[in-house]
Amino acid sequence: MTFRDLCAQRRSIRRYTNQPVEQDKIDYMLQCALMSPSSKRTNGWEFVVIRDEQTLRQLSAIRTYGSGMFDTATAGIVIAMNPSLTDTWQADGGIAAEHILLAAEEQGLGACWCQVYKREGAEQMVRSLCGIPETLNVLCVISLGYKDEERRNYDLDKLKYEKIHHETYTSNHSR
Ligand SMILES: Cc1cc2nc3c(=O)[nH]c(=O)nc-3n(C[C@H](O)[C@H](O)[C@H](O)COP(=O)(O)O)c2cc1C
Repeated sequence: MTFRDLCAQRRSIRRYTNQPVEQDKIDYMLQCALMSPSSKRTNGWEFVVIRDEQTLRQLSAIRTYGSGMFDTATAGIVIAMNPSLTDTWQADGGIAAEHILLAAEEQGLGACWCQVYKREGAEQMVRSLCGIPETLNVLCVISLGYKDEERRNYDLDKLKYEKIHHETYTSNHSR
């Protein structure tokens, strides 16, 4: 599979079967996350792996809408960031999250980003559920599991090519 095929295939998956995610797949995704680039190599991330079913179900209640993927997720990875290391912590955490999302797809798993930072009281709830100190910002929790829904791949012919500009923003796009 090419990297472009992997990108086309990766979609947010929010419903999972009850088949557990193997530990070696979790380890693989974490290795990918630990190789993600970060500003000045500050590596400001902390990853908390959640496998406990009760905690996963409690995560589904951290948001009114937007966290329902934890009704069926069989694993989750909290991405907490140290903002005292760099002002680019949101970008750094997002890149690590995307490494996890793409690695999950490559491993035959489904995954979805659940936003935590600046979402109602979600951050406090994740802090107390997962023991994360106030010194870290909780960016998101990635839900994981074997897919129990089908999503269509991205169609290369239907991408928003109009978002691409050449030399100046006002230029016309072309393919
Ligand atoms: C920063 C960010 C925050 C997101 N937050 C949520 C969320 O809280 N809940 C959710 O169900 N999906 C969330 N998503 C997933 C997006 O809804 C999804 O990526 C988008 O609709 C495109 O669909 P795709 O991932 O299938 O390509 C988030 C994605 C990103 C990048």
